[in-house]
Amino acid sequence: MSRVTTTDLHFHLLEGESLLDGLERTGHDVEYQCRSGYCGVCRLTLLEGKVSYDEPPLAYVGQSEILPCCCKVIEPIHVECRVSGQAELPLELEQREFDF
Ligand code: FES
Repeated sequence: MSRVTTTDLHFHLLEGESLLDGLERTGHDVEYQCRSGYCGVCRLTLLEGKVSYDEPPLAYVGQSEILPCCCKVIEPIHVECRVSGQAELPLELEQREFDF
């Protein structure tokens, strides 16, 4: 299970779950359209860790950006993404651990 750290919390991806699905399951505010690497709408900033792609995505992906709809998390990652409705609080006051 791949460990994911976001701006607000930590969680583990379920077997076969995409990063986009995991972010949605844990209440993150992430946008999407195609869910398959074409549009680039789901683009996130990768702060730490590595991902890979089965096929190179058609959407532009800048250095330190990832597409959570189609990337494979290959080591623990830290991404810039907030839980929906989360206020701007200091990280240590709001960071929670989720082990689904
Ligand atoms: S939702 Fe279109 S590239 Fe991810």
